[in-house]
Amino acid sequence: MPTPDCLTTAPHRDFDLRVVSGAWPADVSGEMLFSAPRLSGGLPYGIFDFGAVARLSLTPGTHGAPDGRFAWRVASIETPSKRIFDAAPEAFTAGPVGYTSPFGAPNATNTAPLPWGDRLFTTWDAGRPVEIHPGTLEYVAEVGHIDSWGGPSMFGDTVLPFLFSSAHPVADPDRDGLWTTKLEPVMEPTFGMRPSVVWWDRDGTEVKWWPLEGIAFAGSTHTVSQTRDWVILCDSGNFRADPDEMFGGERTVTVDDAAPVWLVRKDELLARPSGTPVTPSCFTVSPPNGHFYARYDDTDGISVVWEGMDLMDLALYVRPDDVDVHGAPVPPASVGLYNMAMAPETIAEVVFDPESGKLLDQGRCREDWTFNLQLSAMDWSTEGMSAPTLHHVSYQGCRPGRVTARAARLYEGRIDLDDVAEETPGYLATFERGSMALKSRWEYADTSDLITSPTFAPRSNGADPSASAYAGGEPGGHDGYVVQPVLSDDGFRVELFDAAQVGAGPIAVLEGTANECVPLLLHSAWMPTVDELADADRLRFSDELTEARLAGLDDDQRRVVAAVAEELDG
Ligand SMILES: [Fe+2]
Repeated sequence: MPTPDCLTTAPHRDFDLRVVSGAWPADVSGEMLFSAPRLSGGLPYGIFDFGAVARLSLTPGTHGAPDGRFAWRVASIETPSKRIFDAAPEAFTAGPVGYTSPFGAPNATNTAPLPWGDRLFTTWDAGRPVEIHPGTLEYVAEVGHIDSWGGPSMFGDTVLPFLFSSAHPVADPDRDGLWTTKLEPVMEPTFGMRPSVVWWDRDGTEVKWWPLEGIAFAGSTHTVSQTRDWVILCDSGNFRADPDEMFGGERTVTVDDAAPVWLVRKDELLARPSGTPVTPSCFTVSPPNGHFYARYDDTDGISVVWEGMDLMDLALYVRPDDVDVHGAPVPPASVGLYNMAMAPETIAEVVFDPESGKLLDQGRCREDWTFNLQLSAMDWSTEGMSAPTLHHVSYQGCRPGRVTARAARLYEGRIDLDDVAEETPGYLATFERGSMALKSRWEYADTSDLITSPTFAPRSNGADPSASAYAGGEPGGHDGYVVQPVLSDDGFRVELFDAAQVGAGPIAVLEGTANECVPLLLHSAWMPTVDELADADRLRFSDELTEARLAGLDDDQRRVVAAVAEELDG
């Protein structure tokens, strides 16, 4: 089996889990959040579907679970986009990159949870960050009035603005704001997307943005990272839009072997009026990547972990008529999921020197087993990001049944079919920050298991008032737990590891009380338990409803917008 059928067949639902082996430690606390597209079947490529958020409470007997049980709670994110879609689905057309409609392009907000202090957001690459209630998981607001973003990225000024952005904005602990991006098409210096750095002071309803002077490229900015003084942007390099495919033709565009990186000083940005271009320091990294994470302390250089996506083309998805690399028809349950990695992946730590323009490789790891580098777990506390010690990575293993023959043909000359001949185990692996030396790993030999996004839960230090709410006893990534979810058709599991020795195996395992299965999950994140909504000045959907934005709608469609605005304002 390429991957468990439950990825597309299991429902999102609430349930409770129990310890089935080991002992659950008393010093793990807080919540693990997950983002996921709801996979309604309405889109050819499921990762563009409307988002859900799931929350696993790491303290038993909380959030509605009985004593000794752990609550898994799920909510659909009821954005204005989702509410309008539900009221007028006939107005939405499904395409290979999501829905379009006279209302505009919906914000699916399905990719990553973004905890930030006592507030919780969800994100995706083609919409603004969305705030949700950390207690009830209900929709709260979108971030930044569209006019302050400099208008939509493209497709006109509509009720639902299309904003090509980043699924991984980053919160600045010293300046108390959020760094993200906006992309928009330009003709100079070449035809392509021009990136802007976007800044949101979280107390307001407006953002600021600064275009990168002289930059145009063909990709996306999936991740934003930072040091104390620098913002780091990169062409993710693993998703290329293909206009032929969008108009019903075959995809011919492929991913590159390297990607441009842009560094900008934060103070240089914040000193300028919004909309003023800024010139970045430019670098190139290889292979392309989805995710990268800088050490916050840049006193000794700008040191960044690059999670490579060698021959991982996220624009390729499985179609009903596909066969896999061995010529076998794909299982119906894989249809609409992404085509998995076609080579083992590289992880590297590099140091950028903007003065000399040089890039120093500190260490990298790429082995036969490093297939499908899925996602990673690290200590996101300011203390932990300033002096990281360990970086934990989940590798899903090689899954030839989810590499299509169509993908192999497209990558002929670049793919080595021997690399994708057999299924290989998944691994949870720990690397030392700096050297990227492999410190420890745990094997998932049963290939019917599919490990998914892990997270780091710091060791709870009680109520130490001198520590941030996100920091454990010894910040950095070694003192605490790695929580590793496992998707399986035999039932969902959550495995808890001592972060200092994942190779020793799980110290406790949770399973649903009725062996419940869970569908596809994307990113996860840890946050301390917060049940109340913070006071803040927030954008309302109705604040953006101008006559010009409503102009393309008929009377029924206007009534839908008015009803959604009334619902949300109420
Ligand atoms: Fe991501």
